[in-house]
Amino acid sequence: MNNGKRLFGKVAIITGAADGFGAATARRFVAQGCRVIAVDLQVGNSQLMMAELGHDYVFVQADHCSVADNQRVVETALSRWGGVDILFNNAGIAWTGDFESIDEPLLEHVLDVNLNGPLRMTAAALPALKESAKKSGSDGAVLLFTSSGLGLYGVTHSSAYTMSKHGVIGLMRSLAHELGPQNIRVNAICPGISDTTVGRGTGAWGEPEEVFERLRQATPLRRLIEPEDIANAALFLASREGRMIHNITLRVDAGAHT
Ligand SMILES: NC(=O)c1ccc[n+]([C@@H]2O[C@H](COP(=O)([O-])OP(=O)(O)OC[C@H]3O[C@@H](n4cnc5c(N)ncnc54)[C@H](O)[C@@H]3O)[C@@H](O)[C@H]2O)c1
Repeated sequence: MNNGKRLFGKVAIITGAADGFGAATARRFVAQGCRVIAVDLQVGNSQLMMAELGHDYVFVQADHCSVADNQRVVETALSRWGGVDILFNNAGIAWTGDFESIDEPLLEHVLDVNLNGPLRMTAAALPALKESAKKSGSDGAVLLFTSSGLGLYGVTHSSAYTMSKHGVIGLMRSLAHELGPQNIRVNAICPGISDTTVGRGTGAWGEPEEVFERLRQATPLRRLIEPEDIANAALFLASREGRMIHNITLRVDAGAHT
């Protein structure tokens, strides 16, 4: 009996789940019957969330850039709950600045966290996702990425971040072709700006409040998105309702990037 819960019985790994979009998604997923392995580099709100969500939220402090950490994350899911049905590669960092200020360590860091990390976490979880795909009928197993509006478009003073987020979409599109025939559904969410730690990383664009106001005014719906908006999109894509949705970039941006 699933009591109408849209992810009843599923197991999800969510990266960047101690804060922001990932934390909101973990809450939403648990409320819909999912058990969540929350992965984050920092402890963030994870203690509070453990108290709030109980046994269905397990926090693993880990760096998704590390092959060994990712293995530990997947092993935790397998030993606790016997599988992984959903991987949400959501963790990331902000960067704004002059193109000419980019040096090798910076480039390596942004690409490692925003692009190589999701690739490595996917590689670690893939055997478990394939097992889930065999058992999950037309629901499929689910691989989801957080890219950005800047994975589809460009703005000034954002080259390294924009490049990393375009790369996420390239990775998603390629995997959609490779893994679709194995019953793994692959999609990416492209958020607009939101008031989170990443969203406040507006450095070269100006002070966060000023940038938020400017973008709010430039957005057709005249509002900024909230972490819950990403959680709702992730839930739709991860649930049975999204079973025919594959290889898309879902903009959740109040119409900002048009
Ligand atoms: N907030 C926005 O305006 C916005 C817009 C578009 C896209 N995004 C993307 O959304 C995703 C989530 O960001 P958010 O806005 O919730 O910000 P956030 O800072 O609240 O959450 C990101 C989380 O990722 C974690 N993280 C960073 N590096 C990590 C690593 N190496 N391993 C594991 N965890 C790591 C951070 O500790 C943090 O808790 C990011 O990929 C970001 O690029 C954000």
